[in-house]
Amino acid sequence: MHSTLRRILTVGVVCAITGVTVSASRSERRLDNGLARTPPMGWNSWNKFGCNVSDRLIREVADAISSNGMREAGYQYVTIDDCWQVGRTPQGLIVADSVRFPHGMKALGDYVHSRGLKFGIYTDAGRKTCEGRPGSYGYETIDARTYASWGVDYVKIDWCNSEGLDARTQYTIFRDALASSGRKIVFSICEWGRNRPWDWAPGVGNLWRTTGDIADRWSSVLTLVDLSSQYWHVAGPGGWNDPDMLEVGNGGMTATEYRAHFSLWAMMAAPLIAGNDVRIMMDSTRDAAATREILLNTEVIAVDQDSLGRQGTIVQASPSELQVWVKPLSDGSRAVLLFNRASVPSTITANWGRVGLKTNKARVRDLWAHTETAVVENFYATTVPSHGVVMLRVWPVAD
Ligand code: GLA
Repeated sequence: MHSTLRRILTVGVVCAITGVTVSASRSERRLDNGLARTPPMGWNSWNKFGCNVSDRLIREVADAISSNGMREAGYQYVTIDDCWQVGRTPQGLIVADSVRFPHGMKALGDYVHSRGLKFGIYTDAGRKTCEGRPGSYGYETIDARTYASWGVDYVKIDWCNSEGLDARTQYTIFRDALASSGRKIVFSICEWGRNRPWDWAPGVGNLWRTTGDIADRWSSVLTLVDLSSQYWHVAGPGGWNDPDMLEVGNGGMTATEYRAHFSLWAMMAAPLIAGNDVRIMMDSTRDAAATREILLNTEVIAVDQDSLGRQGTIVQASPSELQVWVKPLSDGSRAVLLFNRASVPSTITANWGRVGLKTNKARVRDLWAHTETAVVENFYATTVPSHGVVMLRVWPVAD
């Protein structure tokens, strides 16, 4: 089915159930804090470094991102995940680990800003973080103000140790605390898709996890893709489905699989939050070169960051392991992903009708090969490697 039609039908179904008109439900349900008009891009410490975070690491990461091409490619938010916090003062103020962060968080935020980047931090809406550090339950307003005083631009809020709490209620308290903190702060909801965030999070946060945690292996990518792709109709400027951060460059997948991982995230208009050691990306190793080729592919990033803000959908899956995905783009072109989940190389064919073109002819650009064909009639067929993709951008050409 034509994806625009499917989008309208899905919204219509939602409205038939809620009894709210299309325009009212779509606009009222969306958080309008002016942020994340395209999916957030940046880096987060968790996937590679876990609890091993420090002032020094974050400064070196900020140095790397601002000098290796990542900042220019759009990576912006540098976020410290779990384990930076150790306690609270008697007045309830959160206390950062003074051994690992000897200069304090405000100084670190200033450093990140001095590199032309934005500063992100992590907390938990429950009583403790997933690593047992102090959570923000009952301290939402004071924590939001503290973050604002440190120059924080992005907060990821987790959901461990939240027994007996209601997710929508707690995250809404945080939304309001951030809104009155005196600073524009991107709000990343991280409750792993447990409480149907696609039904309420667009009115509460700028991005919301749709899945459990990513692992650095191919089967994990498939699991997350199959979950997050279901909620395409709720994504849009200001609010995005989040299938978790990137594993590109962490070593557990082949370059072909990492290319597919990155392409799928771009097709899903997912946040592009790198999770690798960016300090070694300029090394002269083959792995570093592969990581650069992927994370710095500006043509693929442009698909993710397209201003129309539509999440791509699967338009063909026959057999189910050979898929064609389409994402409409603001200039009238479409991103088309040929995705081979099978264990052998396979030919995948995309028909222009199925892709949603109204012409028989198209101009086709291969976003990984960086090559272009002026006129392709009716369909595009090519061999796609196992666990790999061919990613195209297709412009209709008048017949
Ligand atoms: C949860 C989140 C992860 C990470 C860890 C930190 O598992 O989903 O992304 O933040 O907690 O403890």
